[in-house]
Amino acid sequence: MRMRPLGRTSLRISAVALGCWPISGITSPDVNRADSLRTLAAAAESGITFFDTACAYGVSEELLGEFLAECDAADSIVVATKGGLERDSQGQYHRARPVDLRRQCEQSLARLRRDSIQLYYLHAADPEVPIEESAGAIAELIAEGKIQAAGASNLTLEQLQRFHEVCPLQAIQPAYNMLQREIEQQLVPWSADQQISLCVYWPLLKGLLAGHLGRDHVFAANDGRPKYPMFQGQEWQRNHDLLDQLRPIADGLSVPLATLVVAWTIQQPGITSALCGAKRAWQIGESAAAGELVLSDQVLAEIDHALRQRGPAVTRAAV
Ligand SMILES: NC(=O)c1ccc[n+]([C@@H]2O[C@H](COP(=O)([O-])OP(=O)(O)OC[C@H]3O[C@@H](n4cnc5c(N)ncnc54)[C@H](OP(=O)(O)O)[C@@H]3O)[C@@H](O)[C@H]2O)c1
Repeated sequence: MRMRPLGRTSLRISAVALGCWPISGITSPDVNRADSLRTLAAAAESGITFFDTACAYGVSEELLGEFLAECDAADSIVVATKGGLERDSQGQYHRARPVDLRRQCEQSLARLRRDSIQLYYLHAADPEVPIEESAGAIAELIAEGKIQAAGASNLTLEQLQRFHEVCPLQAIQPAYNMLQREIEQQLVPWSADQQISLCVYWPLLKGLLAGHLGRDHVFAANDGRPKYPMFQGQEWQRNHDLLDQLRPIADGLSVPLATLVVAWTIQQPGITSALCGAKRAWQIGESAAAGELVLSDQVLAEIDHALRQRGPAVTRAAV
């Protein structure tokens, strides 16, 4: 597994991380506790040392805490969680006042069963709270030792710069995958310049790029994906045309499509780690294998050709 530094800290993180949103079961059907604990264990067994969760991810932090309490390698695992977004049975809310972030951080520490969290992100900007106030609260939590490094997710470059002035960032977390490449314009050069890690979400575009969802897939009623444009109508068909072009490339390397897609992601300039969601052990196994696969220039050129034929996609971020 390729390991990379976390920002300017002495911590090192795996280039493939486990994203713990699917095991929350909020938008992914068929999730149960036993499978989720097996998925967490499979991630660690396959060399992943970086786990991403959030206070808004329901039971995911609790499951991760339970897993870490039993895991022999727990000391080598870097946990990232997030505050500033909260969820209840009615929906999701921005809550990133200093008092909210302190309460959420303390709740996360308890659920994760840790004394300190290595990486704590502001999950998203709270429209009611100046970014400097949220950043100041995270700087205070660092000063108190409750967290070790600051991150931010779903912020514009201007918001990130304001955050970074108050509380130096070590990581940012935007969406990035073969079809959502907006960050290459501004965020990739800025974070490289500032030595801030780019830990990207949706490398598999919520499973679409893993290639196991057929063109005629019928989504379960509680599956959150059909609300996104890339899972609808003509976009869905064009995405499948792309998968049809990528499959022979993966076959040529004797790897699953998901492995090829994640390997491409972590090989892009400036990308530190791909946060790969999974709800089954075999899924994170396929993604983790990308940490051992280096794509040749020729393979990268073939993928590039397929992406140019696909053309620009209609995309939407999570928050
Ligand atoms: N900061 C933010 O606002 C934000 C937003 C979104 C995500 N994130 C983070 O990023 C992580 C990744 O996002 P994500 O989990 O939504 O999406 P993702 O990693 O792009 O896709 C994960 C989904 O793809 C499917 N999958 C995974 N591996 C597969 C494989 N090998 N073969 C077939 N299907 C596979 C599974 O769904 P099915 O089995 O149901 O098809 C899985 O739930 C999250 O878990 C979270 O940690 C952060």
